[in-house]
Amino acid sequence: MKQLVQLSVNGQTHDLVVRPERTLLDVLREDLGLTGSKRGCDLGACGACAVLLDGRPVSSCLTLAVEASGREIVTVEGLARGGALHPVQEAFVEHGAVQCGFCTPGMLITVTALLDEHPEPGEAEILEALSGNLCRCTGYVKILDAVRAAIRRLHGAAPRLSQATTDRTGPAAPAATTRA
Ligand code: FES
Ligand code: FES
Repeated sequence: MKQLVQLSVNGQTHDLVVRPERTLLDVLREDLGLTGSKRGCDLGACGACAVLLDGRPVSSCLTLAVEASGREIVTVEGLARGGALHPVQEAFVEHGAVQCGFCTPGMLITVTALLDEHPEPGEAEILEALSGNLCRCTGYVKILDAVRAAIRRLHGAAPRLSQATTDRTGPAAPAATTRA
């Protein structure tokens, strides 16, 4: 049986009638036309579909739309303000942290959430935060450069990431379980 949900997305409220098994990702992309959140694995493993739910990053492919009813959702389309990119977006552009761009919306959401919660995260916190966001293109070096630049922009400080960590082919093991 379909259910009425009220989704607050990027500051706009939407009343929708949805089947209970539909995911938040389905509704964002197919009903609201917000295609910034990407469908990668559809399994909670890649992070491409990440959105903020009450300020915390979640995999929208694993979140039912009915679970998100009445809560605050921010997608990548909601990061810019008044026509100006969010500082994290600016840092990604300036540091060339975008290649094909498929992972980028999820990366931006994850980094924004991290810096909202931990204004000056250490190396381990950055790597842990990004461990659920997979990128097939960049090798992560430029993404990590962009994160450090975003920290400087937002808070005037940046951790030093060791060469050992920036030479890696990807962050630590995926942390899909943190994205309920
Ligand atoms: S599409 Fe949701 S985590 Fe991969
Ligand atoms: S830029 Fe292509 S997957 Fe990350």
